[in-house]
Amino acid sequence: MKILGIETSCDETAAAVVEDGRKVLSNAIYSQIAKHRPYGGVVPEIASRNHVAKLPGIIEDALAEAGETYASIDALAVTYGPGLASSLLIGFSAAKTLAQRLNKPLIGVNHHEGHLHSVFMRDDAPAEEDVFPMLGLLVSGGDSSLVLMHGTGQYELLGSTIDDAAGEALDKAAAVLKLGYPGGPIIQKTAEGGNPHAIRFPRGLDSVDRGKWIYKYDRELCFSFSGLKTSLLTHVKNLDHEPADDELRDIAASYQEAVADALETRVERALDRFPVKSFSCAGGVSLNKVLREKLAELSERKGIPLLLCPPALCTDNAAMIAGAAFEKMRLDKTGPEPEDVNPNLRLADW
Ligand code: KG4
Repeated sequence: MKILGIETSCDETAAAVVEDGRKVLSNAIYSQIAKHRPYGGVVPEIASRNHVAKLPGIIEDALAEAGETYASIDALAVTYGPGLASSLLIGFSAAKTLAQRLNKPLIGVNHHEGHLHSVFMRDDAPAEEDVFPMLGLLVSGGDSSLVLMHGTGQYELLGSTIDDAAGEALDKAAAVLKLGYPGGPIIQKTAEGGNPHAIRFPRGLDSVDRGKWIYKYDRELCFSFSGLKTSLLTHVKNLDHEPADDELRDIAASYQEAVADALETRVERALDRFPVKSFSCAGGVSLNKVLREKLAELSERKGIPLLLCPPALCTDNAAMIAGAAFEKMRLDKTGPEPEDVNPNLRLADW
């Protein structure tokens, strides 16, 4: 079963062909980072215009690289939410039109499901049945969530960020430090050789006197990164000089440590509360070296296997969308074809 996936939820224009849910035959991505860099973040109007210009060529690239044609693929998959409405619409319209024209099934996929599935898209990944229940940490530019997966497509949201996402916190920090965009890789690079304990930045939601619940979520399993960003801003304002290189290294290392530590602490709390067979980490921030090391050490300490997303599939891509769509087909849980995009789509059981 070969599925052509299409993903345009934010600023990556992506198409991919995946065989039987795991074998990535092609993974074509046009990254719009250079287009958004002058503005320090994603500009929705620029993103959607670039999707319009680039998507047809990216789909052709994905088919050619996989050695496939429109006729030889079996189905199409597309991200229909969550994301930027104007960006989602471009990929969704293209996929819908192609599916109708080719008379092939179209499977709508939640972007977050795609990220969560991406940890299975490697040759040495265990069978899905062997790792559930699994705790998933999803950390991207737009979301930070802890999800308890009881089985394929069976999600229980344990907690999420109440303000900024982890990636957003890194992007904003790089902007404050005038280092450029996107912030995650730049902060990681700047932090090399720095002292991660030079400055104690807040880990978010530390105060215990504000009640146990945030809506229906356990406060101890939720994240907050906006105070961290403000703390950095205050720290920089209070310096009476431009930070020198070694000072900048320490600031970046301490900030990166705060983000990674906040994430790891919540994962450890969830592992202590829920008896899982494994845990996983996916999304753009899962590329972070310090976070990967902390989670690997946690896995060893707890004796619980860790599944990490392959680096090529951490940031937004269409292979993970085609992969998740295959699982829906395999389990006969594709549901009705989505009629429209849903920018606020939530994780829901299949
Ligand atoms: O998954 P993704 O493409 O975005 C969404 O789906 O929202 O992830 C993008 C995010 C950005 O915030 C970027 O700064 C961050 O991933 N990122 C990293 C690293 N590489 C990318 N964060 C930390 N360390 C990295 N090496």
